[in-house]
Amino acid sequence: MEQSVKNMRVAVYPGSFDPVTNGHLDIIHRAAKVFDKLIVAVLNNTSKNPLFSLEERMELLRLATKDLPNIEIDGFRDLLVNYMRDRQAYVVVRGLRAVSDFEYELQMASTNRKLSDEVETFFMTSTPQYSYLSSSIVREIAKFHGPISELVPPEVEEALRVKYPTSLGKS
Ligand code: COA
Repeated sequence: MEQSVKNMRVAVYPGSFDPVTNGHLDIIHRAAKVFDKLIVAVLNNTSKNPLFSLEERMELLRLATKDLPNIEIDGFRDLLVNYMRDRQAYVVVRGLRAVSDFEYELQMASTNRKLSDEVETFFMTSTPQYSYLSSSIVREIAKFHGPISELVPPEVEEALRVKYPTSLGKS
């Protein structure tokens, strides 16, 4: 029997994704098995001065998740709870890499709950091999032409090579 959209379990995985890393993809692949549809929502955060534009970050996510049928890549620039209401989604997925993530994530989940009592946050623990990974660590290694092939998907590695054609370590 076909499942109606209303009964679908839709979750939103929000973040900056500047750029998407294998750590994010670990969460995306696992969450895609749990929910009927996963919307990966890229924050258009002007205050963070990202390396990649919103369009570039979304395109890299599209390429990296093209094999997953139940993923949608979208952008947002609103409060997360407002965006979720517009998309009729009530579950936020977040990854927990280490204990150090917990305080910030708890604050964010509690704030979202305060702003909307319909929103629930589901935490997924990172696969240990990615527990140290972050987008800024990847950007830092790429800037000096260090090895990143085990940290990001090939399309992101290529995009970083274009952003940093010469190593900032060489004069
Ligand atoms: N694997 C690898 N890296 C991960 C990761 C994982 N599983 N989970 C998080 N990270 C990294 C990110 O790469 C990022 O790294 P960087 O800081 O080095 O670039 C860092 O952890 C922060 O993660 P991210 O998910 O990008 O969080 P964020 O703080 O940029 O964005 C939002 C969080 C978008 C969910 C939040 O800011 C938001 O909802 N904003 C909208 C406004 C709003 O509603 N505010 C009220 C809620 S508090």
